[in-house]
Amino acid sequence: MSTRSLYLYQPLGGKPSSPLRDVLCNPVRCTAILLVVALSLGSIGFFMIQQPWGSVLAPNMSFPAHETEPSVSVDPSIPEVPPPVAEVVATSVYHPFVAPSPADSIVDQRVRPIKAHSVLSDDCLDTWVSTGQWQPPCHYDMVQDATIDLVYVWVNGSDVLHQKARNELLASTKYKTKDARFREHDELRYSLRSARNATATWPNSTWHIITADVPDPNTNNNTAVDHNRRLGLVPQWLDIQCAFRGQDGHPPIRLQHDSQLFRLTGRPGAALESANATDWLDKILPSFNSHAVESQLPQLDPRIVSENIVALNDDQFMALPLPPSAFHTTLYGQVFRMDPNLMVGGDSSGSADGGGEWRSLGWSAHLLNERFGTRKRPYMHHNARALSLPLMHELSLAFGSYFAATPLSQFRGSHKVAGEYEVNTIFMSTQYVIERHREALLWSWVVAKWGRAEGLLTRDLKHRMWLELGGAEDDAVTLLKTEGSAEDDVEVNLLMAGLQLPRAFDAEKQADTTYSWVSMDGYNPSFRSSLPQSVLQRDECIGKDEESAWDMFRRLLKESPSCGDNVISSLIQSSESGLSVFLPPPSTQNIRPSPSDPIILPLELPAHAPPLPRNPRAFVVRLLMRYAYVLGDSPTIFMGLKSPLQGERLLKAADQTKDVALICINDDLGNGDQTAANTMLRSWFQRRWPEKLECEL
Ligand SMILES: *[C@@H]1O[C@H](CO)[C@@H](O)[C@H](O)[C@H]1NC(C)=O
Ligand SMILES: *[C@@H]1O[C@H](CO)[C@@H](O)[C@H](O)[C@H]1NC(C)=O
Ligand SMILES: *[C@@H]1O[C@H](CO)[C@@H](O)[C@H](O)[C@H]1NC(C)=O
Ligand SMILES: *[C@@H]1O[C@H](CO)[C@@H](O)[C@H](O)[C@H]1NC(C)=O
Ligand SMILES: *[C@@H]1O[C@H](CO)[C@@H](O)[C@H](O)[C@H]1NC(C)=O
Ligand SMILES: *[C@@H]1O[C@H](CO)[C@@H](O)[C@H](O)[C@H]1NC(C)=O
Repeated sequence: MSTRSLYLYQPLGGKPSSPLRDVLCNPVRCTAILLVVALSLGSIGFFMIQQPWGSVLAPNMSFPAHETEPSVSVDPSIPEVPPPVAEVVATSVYHPFVAPSPADSIVDQRVRPIKAHSVLSDDCLDTWVSTGQWQPPCHYDMVQDATIDLVYVWVNGSDVLHQKARNELLASTKYKTKDARFREHDELRYSLRSARNATATWPNSTWHIITADVPDPNTNNNTAVDHNRRLGLVPQWLDIQCAFRGQDGHPPIRLQHDSQLFRLTGRPGAALESANATDWLDKILPSFNSHAVESQLPQLDPRIVSENIVALNDDQFMALPLPPSAFHTTLYGQVFRMDPNLMVGGDSSGSADGGGEWRSLGWSAHLLNERFGTRKRPYMHHNARALSLPLMHELSLAFGSYFAATPLSQFRGSHKVAGEYEVNTIFMSTQYVIERHREALLWSWVVAKWGRAEGLLTRDLKHRMWLELGGAEDDAVTLLKTEGSAEDDVEVNLLMAGLQLPRAFDAEKQADTTYSWVSMDGYNPSFRSSLPQSVLQRDECIGKDEESAWDMFRRLLKESPSCGDNVISSLIQSSESGLSVFLPPPSTQNIRPSPSDPIILPLELPAHAPPLPRNPRAFVVRLLMRYAYVLGDSPTIFMGLKSPLQGERLLKAADQTKDVALICINDDLGNGDQTAANTMLRSWFQRRWPEKLECEL
């Protein structure tokens, strides 16, 4: 990723600012709009007491409900996590814990609803999704700024016990790895310091540091508990008891460890037993592979970690205050920062470099191709990344056998057999959301709206579908090169909902984020801020002959992906705002939600249509909300340090870029340059983030 050493990412497409945006970005105006909104909604706010059916709803799993996948929503009670105790071995502090037993290392196969949506009524969500306007029955103050947890994955490669365990495994497997370069410039300390200032306004945030762990040399191996007793690595400068509580408004910092996370997954619906987990754990632990650890992030305990997370490595820094909407909002979903200039194609040969990221990227793209149709997909910028825990968990169920195979490589890239390559969890987590949203749009229009009665699209229905696509009597519809239209509405809607805007009034004091594309605009095959011009062909994409709705849906989804893309674009082109044209009509009966209602489409694409949900419209509205996302941009710097001299120049350039929001510093230095580089980096960190954290020793 470091062919160029300094990327200054520009916004994806030079979208000229519209007059509406300029008006909105005037702070006086914003206040005025807020006042109007508050006054007009305050009067009706009282009788709008919503029936939060999410809280009574314990949704049954997938669609159709699998017998093997019973479905109750996650127990919301927060488990009692005892405050940590510190154990000192030699001169280092560790965090002792008991790793889960095999029986507790089996994945929870229940798909989880999005909590932030569960508390909103069907009526509000229906209005929002169908019109793209946050208006009654949705109202001001009904949603809050997202609660977002930070998740760091960290290892101290210089730790003596960790090095010992690593060398023992290397010796016993005879695996050859490149000499591990454990450079420590104290990045984690300064990354956390940078985050404190940048996330100071985030409500109820908790920080989680996932660190490696080692066997406890002091156990006497008498009992199973002793056997599972391990020592988690601790950043030596952190008072872990103080950090656990959170001090003076500082978010609590909690340590979790690799061995606590590993959960066996299988094909959707597979019956997994504790014996399976025993075998699996024997093969995968201990793990010295960051891809393996990341593949278990979906298994973070939802009672401890909030559903919105921002995942960081210790070499990633937040340079300016960022509002929560720079990463997540309940209205628009996760904000993905992608690089449309770096597209990843499927590769199942495993021939790409396994020591870096490329083998896992190619393999992951291949799996996505098989499930959702072949195309190239953009790489995520290597910086702080917004992710959704319930959706990552769903992904780990959908591709369960591949997630289970990933940690077989105890060192990165050590398995070279087809099917045992590693998945790239971050890449897949983002692309999966985008694909599932596109799938939901196509399913809704073809199967739920037009295929409704018999599931059969007659010649007459196909003609009417063609008219809805704007086709009239011609055999092609020209799709104009359009820009996302809903984006103009973003700021109005966020203000109407009472959320902080992602856009900065002063880009040198607050990070500026542009929503270049929102999923309310449909699907964007270019991943830029505008759609390319193209043509929807009737014969190729719709046809005139009778066909089952499910077959047509599958065709548009994956066999002819560009047809599916064009169908979505032409429907969007024909409508004002919102996704109403995709939706089936409202149900005529008053169907009460039931725990047996599905909440998602099947994890694997079945050959034959599963039965429609009882209330297809309410189902699909929530489905579209579930997978909502934003393609966003913020000023971002990626530095690959190659020599001390070049490093000085890059750091200086970063200092001069006053509006940079996110910085990543990658150490590509030769061994001879380490001392000079270490001095240079530490003094730069210290100058930029001089203030200690509350619980820093
Ligand atoms: C962040 O740091 C700057 C400079 O030290 C300071 O002026 C500002 O108040 C801080 N912001 C927050 C939210 O802590
Ligand atoms: C967030 O924290 C405040 C107090 O700091 C508390 O009143 C509120 O209930 C919390 N919200 C959530 C969603 O936990
Ligand atoms: C417990 O077992 C581990 C490995 O199985 C071994 O390294 C350690 O020395 C044992 N501890 C004691 C006290 O016997
Ligand atoms: C990493 O481990 C080394 C060796 O035990 C120790 O000196 C150093 O302080 C550790 N670094 C951190 C950040 O904990
Ligand atoms: C689990 O173990 C059983 C036998 O113990 C075996 O038949 C089954 O195939 C295993 N399942 C998986 C997913 O490995
Ligand atoms: C749905 O879940 C309930 C328990 O929450 C269970 O009794 C019911 O059998 C489930 N239905 C299906 C179709 O799995």
